[in-house]
Amino acid sequence: MKKFIKGLAVIAAASLMAVMATACGGDTQKPGNSDSFNASNTANYNLVTGGKLIMGTNAEFPPFEYKEGGSVVGVDAGVMELVAKKLGLTLEIKDMTFDSLPEALAGKNIDVIAAGFTIKPEREEKMDFTDTYYTAKQTVILKSDSPYNSIEEMKDKNLKIGVQTGTTGMNDAAPVVTGEDNIVGYNNGSLAVEALLSGKVDAVIIDNNPAKEYKDQHGDDVKLLEDQFEEEEYAIAVRKGNKELQDAINKALKEIKEDGSFQKVVEQYVK
Ligand code: ARG
Repeated sequence: MKKFIKGLAVIAAASLMAVMATACGGDTQKPGNSDSFNASNTANYNLVTGGKLIMGTNAEFPPFEYKEGGSVVGVDAGVMELVAKKLGLTLEIKDMTFDSLPEALAGKNIDVIAAGFTIKPEREEKMDFTDTYYTAKQTVILKSDSPYNSIEEMKDKNLKIGVQTGTTGMNDAAPVVTGEDNIVGYNNGSLAVEALLSGKVDAVIIDNNPAKEYKDQHGDDVKLLEDQFEEEEYAIAVRKGNKELQDAINKALKEIKEDGSFQKVVEQYVK
């Protein structure tokens, strides 16, 4: 009996401490996050604002991020919502131009970049990446009546290529096809596609999933050249040296991949 009462007291004390921890700490756990993430780590995440995970993105990149009724939705928004919950943080999304994301991260305006963001050596010098979560390929969008069927055929034709500024499409893929002076940067993919339709550029190069979305929007007016470039891997970027946050996101990604919730988000947005 005595042992039983002592046991109760221990349980009572433990639950009281748990309540206090929830009530007092701004950064502590919220209900709903997994037990394996604890409050003491949260303090080391080096966040812009305690308790919040601020995701920077460019919400002009369906199906990874786009605006729907005033909010940003898509694979990255859905995945980061799950990740934030695992970490006991509230997700906030900041929409900005794609090429301003690295500076926003370094200048501590955002905690992560989640933007269908490809890992590449130049970027790894300025920021750290989590484990990868999606494989993509640059894809060429042409008008349906274009004579070209491969990038080989497009080379040395002095073609103008529309791209989204600051992307791998602009810096890595387009230069394979045409000279630097012929690469025209736009603020987003749909502006580049409009330029294609109005004859201002001869082709657009953009990641495969957005390319398919534009093909869906414009139907028979455009065609795609797929499988022309190397695979790229998307990952979440954190500030250089923010290892605690990087580790925590990796752990969360692993858990949501294992429990199937990651795949559900992908299936919700990728057709
Ligand atoms: N994957 C490409 C890159 O990392 C394009 C990403 C564009 N993302 C966006 N949200 N607009 O450069």
